[in-house]
Amino acid sequence: MSEAQTILSVSALSKSFDGVKPVEGVSFRLQNSRITALIGPNGAGKTTMFNLLTGFLRADDGDIHLGGHRINRLSPYRIARLGIGRTFQNIRLFPQMSALENVLLGLKYERGESFWAALWQSKAMKTEERENTDKAVELLKMVGLTAKRDELAGNLSYGQRKLLEIARALALQPKLLLLDEPIAGLFPGMIPEMKRILRELRDSGRTILFIEHDMRTLMDLAEWIIVLNYGKKIAEGTPKQIQQNEAVITAYLGRRRQGVA
Ligand SMILES: Nc1ncnc2c1ncn2[C@@H]1O[C@H](COP(=O)(O)OP(=O)(O)OP(=O)(O)O)[C@@H](O)[C@H]1O
Ligand SMILES: [Mg+2]
Repeated sequence: MSEAQTILSVSALSKSFDGVKPVEGVSFRLQNSRITALIGPNGAGKTTMFNLLTGFLRADDGDIHLGGHRINRLSPYRIARLGIGRTFQNIRLFPQMSALENVLLGLKYERGESFWAALWQSKAMKTEERENTDKAVELLKMVGLTAKRDELAGNLSYGQRKLLEIARALALQPKLLLLDEPIAGLFPGMIPEMKRILRELRDSGRTILFIEHDMRTLMDLAEWIIVLNYGKKIAEGTPKQIQQNEAVITAYLGRRRQGVA
C-alpha cells in the first residue's frame, strides 16, 4: 500500500492499565475508501484501540498519523475535527431528545468555537440553525431514518439507535468512521440494510473501520481484516486469508476451549 492510499497509520502503539496490556506494540495502516474489520476474541483490545485512535485514551508508546497529522496527543474534539468519527459499543444517545436533536448536537459540536459569538448574533444564529437542521435531515436520510426525525431516541428500536449514532458520527464529515460493533445484536432483518448503508458510505469515499464478531458478516462485508489477540496483532489480510490463518484459528479455538469466547 503506498503512502497516498493510506488514511491512517498506527505504529508500535501500546497502552497498559495496571498490569493489563490491552494494546501492545500494534502497527497497521488503513487504506482509503476501504471497509476494514478489527476483530479478536473478547478482551483482545479492540475497543481500547478505538479509544486510542479517537483520543479518549492516551497511548503510552507509539504513534498514530491521520493523513499528515500526528494525532496521538490530541483531544477527542480535535481528532473529531480532523476527520475521525465514531460510534460506541454501548450506544450513547440522549434518549429524551428527538432523533433530529441528537444529530444536531453532533453538528453543534463542530461549531463549538463560534458558539458564544453566535449567541450575540441572533440573525446569524437563526441562519446557522436552519442550515444545521437541513444538514441533520440530510444525515438522517443517509441512514434511512427520515420518518423518525421527531421520534424520541429512547423510543427507537436498537437497530435504529445504531443507525442514529452513525448519522451523528457523520455530522463532522469524517473521512474515517470507526464503528464499534454496528451489526452485533441487530434484528436479522435489519442486517442487510446496515450493510447497504456501510457500503454506500464507503462508495461515497469514506473509510470504515468496524469491530465485529460474526464470521459470516465479516466474510461478506470486510475487504480487509486486522486481528488482535491479548493486545497484539496476530494477523491481517483478506477475509479468505484470515479464515485460513493458523494463528487466528488457534486464538479463537483456544479461547473457546477455555470457555471465554
Ligand atoms: N479503563 C480500563 N481500565 C483497566 N482495564 C481496562 C480498561 N479498559 C479495558 N481494560 C481491559 O483491557 C482489555 C481489553 O479490553 P477491550 O474493551 O479493549 O476489549 P475488546 O476487544 O473490545 O473486547 P469485547 O469484544 O468484549 O468488546 C480487557 O482485559 C479489559 O478488561
Ligand atoms: Mg469491545
